[in-house]
Amino acid sequence: MTATDKAEALRRRKGGRPIAALTAYDYPTARLLDEAGVDVLLVGDSLGMVVLGMPDTTQVTLDHMLHHITAVARAAPRAMVLGDLPIHTYDTPAQALATARRLVAAGAEAVKLEGGSGQAQQVRAITGAGIPVVGHLGMLPQSIVEEGGYRKTGKTPDQAAELLAGAQALVAAGVCAIVLESVVAATARLITQQIAVPTIGIGSGEGTCDGEVAVVTDLLGSFPWFVPPFARPEANVADATREAAAKYLARVTSR
Ligand code: KIV
Repeated sequence: MTATDKAEALRRRKGGRPIAALTAYDYPTARLLDEAGVDVLLVGDSLGMVVLGMPDTTQVTLDHMLHHITAVARAAPRAMVLGDLPIHTYDTPAQALATARRLVAAGAEAVKLEGGSGQAQQVRAITGAGIPVVGHLGMLPQSIVEEGGYRKTGKTPDQAAELLAGAQALVAAGVCAIVLESVVAATARLITQQIAVPTIGIGSGEGTCDGEVAVVTDLLGSFPWFVPPFARPEANVADATREAAAKYLARVTSR
């Protein structure tokens, strides 16, 4: 399937079978998640935190993204490979298109950027070149410094209206889906009902969106030092790793 076909297939999931998206940053994880049938592998800039040990996503560079997108794409997944445009690599439409092309050359089949109406020109520039774009609204990790912390959004009628207007602007500019991060459930549901492309929620309530995305380390329990309140781990890879290391230590040192 071409990248455009995958984007169209994603778009057609609106109101249908829920989309299951997970982040992936390396080859083995991408292969395993793809074999499990995940729809979208997001090479998120969360890799700055959960892979590279940074305090937030604001120090992630284009080179970091290209390195990890290449690894995920090498798994040749059936799932869509979606790459984040890192901070300050899409400040203008021309820069956004140039960055999106670099991500595509590394193996991304679609790109994601943060922000609403202010990003419409950037989205137009990228989709106009035939590269599928996913929007990202609500809590925007790349704006964490300006925002002063991770907070729920869409609480007041004004905030809800602004988010909805942003979502509509992104749809008009051509996005094939929108991630809603840490949006209060009622607002996430409202946006989902009002727009024509699928919404993919994270920390935005259960069943409020057309799909869900999770950071894979939250699902696997492999990054125990920061676990968001909405995370629902299905494994405890941190403990399994500690136990395996302890057994190895005992084996090596007991001779
Ligand atoms: O970078 C990331 O992992 C993301 C998800 C939180 C949606 O953007």
